[in-house]
Amino acid sequence: MDNAPRLEAVTPENVTTACRIKVAPEQEAFVAPVADSLAEAYASYATAWPRLVYAGDEPVAFVMGGFDPEAEIEFFRCGIWRLNVDARHQRAGYGRFAVEAVLAEARRRGSNRATVMWKPGANGPEDFYRRMGFELTGEEFAGQTIGAIALD
Ligand SMILES: CC(C)(COP(=O)(O)OP(=O)(O)OC[C@H]1O[C@@H](n2cnc3c(N)ncnc32)[C@H](O)[C@@H]1OP(=O)(O)O)[C@@H](O)C(=O)NCCC(=O)NCCS
Repeated sequence: MDNAPRLEAVTPENVTTACRIKVAPEQEAFVAPVADSLAEAYASYATAWPRLVYAGDEPVAFVMGGFDPEAEIEFFRCGIWRLNVDARHQRAGYGRFAVEAVLAEARRRGSNRATVMWKPGANGPEDFYRRMGFELTGEEFAGQTIGAIALD
């Protein structure tokens, strides 16, 4: 089980390697580069929850939860803001691990619901999120579909 995924914080030691996590070219339209998300996390340090998924010594995915209970818009209060699984490491369970990590953190913070937004389209993450148990709420925001999952 040496390669069992684990979650790590972003540190001065791993931040450069983290920025090398790249999705496939045809997926780039669906998620910001890791460096952009880390800049956002810096600016929104009180609400952003950026983490890396490691397999062995290597960071294979980046995920950013967002926890802003005071946000006016309900679907910005608790959920997944970003998820980038490196193209070489997709379909190996790391995306699921990252989603479950954010949902566990949401539960830890007392939430009973989490959301995610994605851009619809071929090569997008909709089928993945549905597989993870998110259901479409029927809302959309800035052209993005909104999914929600109940936490118990
Ligand atoms: C979408 C993404 C996060 C999935 O990550 P992943 O590590 O490949 O997913 P996993 O291996 O954990 O897959 C979990 C399950 O979802 C399924 N799945 C993964 N990607 C899928 C897809 N594109 N379509 C349908 N099912 C998919 C897997 O087959 C697996 O199914 P299982 O329950 O039968 O085992 C990854 O492809 C990615 O980073 N895409 C580009 C960026 C992106 O769109 N991010 C989301 C922004 S909101």
